[in-house]
Amino acid sequence: MIDKIDQLLKQVEAATPVTEEEIEQFRIEYLGRKGILKALAGEFKEVPGEQKRDVGQALNALKQKVTAKVEELKAGAQRNALASGPALDLTRPHGGIPLGARHPISVVRREIIEIFNRIGFTVAEGPEVEDDWHVFSGLNFPPEHPARDMQDTFFVEGDNDLLLRTHTSSVQVREMNKRRPPIRIVMPGRVFRNEAVSARSHCAFHQIEGLYIDKEVSFADLKQTLLYFAREFFGKAKIRLRPSYFPFTEPSAEMDVYWGLETETDYRITKGTGWLEVLGCGMVDPNVLQSSDIDPAVYSGFAFGMGIERIAMLRYQIGDLRMFFENDVRFLDQFGPVS
Ligand code: DAH
Repeated sequence: MIDKIDQLLKQVEAATPVTEEEIEQFRIEYLGRKGILKALAGEFKEVPGEQKRDVGQALNALKQKVTAKVEELKAGAQRNALASGPALDLTRPHGGIPLGARHPISVVRREIIEIFNRIGFTVAEGPEVEDDWHVFSGLNFPPEHPARDMQDTFFVEGDNDLLLRTHTSSVQVREMNKRRPPIRIVMPGRVFRNEAVSARSHCAFHQIEGLYIDKEVSFADLKQTLLYFAREFFGKAKIRLRPSYFPFTEPSAEMDVYWGLETETDYRITKGTGWLEVLGCGMVDPNVLQSSDIDPAVYSGFAFGMGIERIAMLRYQIGDLRMFFENDVRFLDQFGPVS
């Protein structure tokens, strides 16, 4: 019988059940009510007395071996199940949570601010609901100027003085009242005009304003600053300044960037000239400095203002301004994940 038990021990050692079912079968085969060990216990009764001790020990050893093997196999199977079971594998890397994209207006605004930051301009902001003084009078708009008309400006109902700012130039006035020169700031913000919504205009849009006031600031400084901006932002090395008119600057100009005429789109967006109008600018009118108690005999300055949508349309070749306000994720997703 000892030989038989030895034989069984070897069989147990060699057995390789893998799945939980196979392991259970193996257990039943040896340890079940009608299993091999039960049968051996029956045979044990027939063993002559002097052999009982040895055979009994061998039987116990076999039983222990089988029990230990079953435990070990079960633990292994459980580990395998954990490793492959999708719900339970806490170590498995997942596909990542989709991030939103920054709005193209924000992307362009950040980039413009960052360009001016590099040459010492800091950011200032002002309110969207403003009074007449900051939007018009303090900026040297004559009382009869058409921009003050109801057709262009949204007024707050029941209040003759309160309105939605039509440009970020109002922040210039606020800052000139608050600080003393040198002043070197960029002022991003949302502005409002009473205009019909179309592919080219909207009743709400964004601007960035710039202001630099110090002793001996000249038109050459303005030109050099704008050339630096055009190079950094557009990568274009050629600009031109066309004479223009704004009540708050004298002289005033509009800046064009030489865009080129290489593609059909270039022809379309530059109307066949190769030049693109990018911003308005000028030397701060002495009247404006005076209104803010800055002595124009001591200080001079320049200002500029640009529409962010317009610049974003150029940068991304977007043909319809309304895209910026519809928040269609198919449009927004194209501007890359948040960085
Ligand atoms: N405020 C002007 C507008 O909305 C833009 C502008 C022109 C701003 C000339 C300026 C400037 O600061 O100097 O059309």
